[in-house]
Amino acid sequence: KNKDLKEKLYKINLEAARYFYNNLKSSKIALNYLYSRGIDNKIINRFGLGYSLNEWDALIKHLKNMGYSEEEMSLAGLLVKSEKGIYDRFRNRIMFPIFDVKGRVIAFGGRVLDDSKPKYLNTSETLVFEKGKNLYGLNYVIKNKNLENIIVVEGYMDCIKLHQFGLNNVVASLGTALTTDHSKLLKRYTNNIYICYDSDAAGQAATLRGIEILESAGLNVKVIIVPSGKDPDEFVKNNGIDEFKKLIKDALFITDYRILKAKEGKNIKNQFDKVKYVNEVVDVISKLKDEVLVQHYSEKLSEETGISLNVIIDKVNKNRTNIT
Ligand code: CTP
Ligand code: MN
Ligand code: MN
Ligand code: MN
Ligand code: MN
Repeated sequence: KNKDLKEKLYKINLEAARYFYNNLKSSKIALNYLYSRGIDNKIINRFGLGYSLNEWDALIKHLKNMGYSEEEMSLAGLLVKSEKGIYDRFRNRIMFPIFDVKGRVIAFGGRVLDDSKPKYLNTSETLVFEKGKNLYGLNYVIKNKNLENIIVVEGYMDCIKLHQFGLNNVVASLGTALTTDHSKLLKRYTNNIYICYDSDAAGQAATLRGIEILESAGLNVKVIIVPSGKDPDEFVKNNGIDEFKKLIKDALFITDYRILKAKEGKNIKNQFDKVKYVNEVVDVISKLKDEVLVQHYSEKLSEETGISLNVIIDKVNKNRTNIT
């Protein structure tokens, strides 16, 4: 019974995706929005992008004509019920169908064409869609013959823009919350992950949380740093794909990233800041299992701060006995 309903939801979502796609193809405004953001027809087609009309019940009417019930539309998360009646959940938005690894349409993200809020609206949880369990773009990524690593970005736009420029190993976590389920899903396809979140405060905080989660799953993780308040999409738009590839080459090991973050906003010449910095970095070093790495980062910290190596190693060792 549950299985039948799921099948029904895949079908109705696919029908909605087709409808949105056809709308886009006949909407100059929506197409021009995507073109203005540097998205080309090839990637529109590949990712099946669409457009939801600026009407209250365009999709509902269409799906009714196709023989679907309001109940089914509601279970698929495509319509909203209110006191005044029912209406389309997605209106006047660029539509991003979200596929599962089997290529079935399980949900949608919809973006406004201007600065109104909310910028993105996503399908709420349904029988076939749990946000924290799916990665946007993964269905395309796993088609790669020799997949060496996967790059995880925040947004739909980041993901499709990088694919457009030939990086066919990019997925988006749809916002900034990377979950344990995401890490397990990734591990089925690769052991090597690059995380490349937005360089704003939210993205950087999410990077620190994300690397913990990925590391706990036993993945090798590196961090791609996009300079100055940008996200990958904007960076590529301003600097080109070759510059982005340099960022990939320069990706940091997670320990270096954590140390970099510990240093941010601190002036090592100020003794209070210096003490804080040393303690924070010692905490980072204490979690390392490899003695060679412990030695390496302890030496670096000692050189950088003038605190003797013995003191640092001593602190690390005390910390480690407390941890275990
Ligand atoms: N997001 C969301 N709901 C919001 C804002 C964001 O679900 N109200 C998710 C979307 O998946 C979005 C991602 O978080 O793609 C990253 O958010 P953000 O960086 O704010 O958006 P961008 O992807 O950069 O959006 P754009 O470039 O289109 O402005
Ligand atoms: Mn962001
Ligand atoms: Mn963006
Ligand atoms: Mn962004
Ligand atoms: Mn280092």
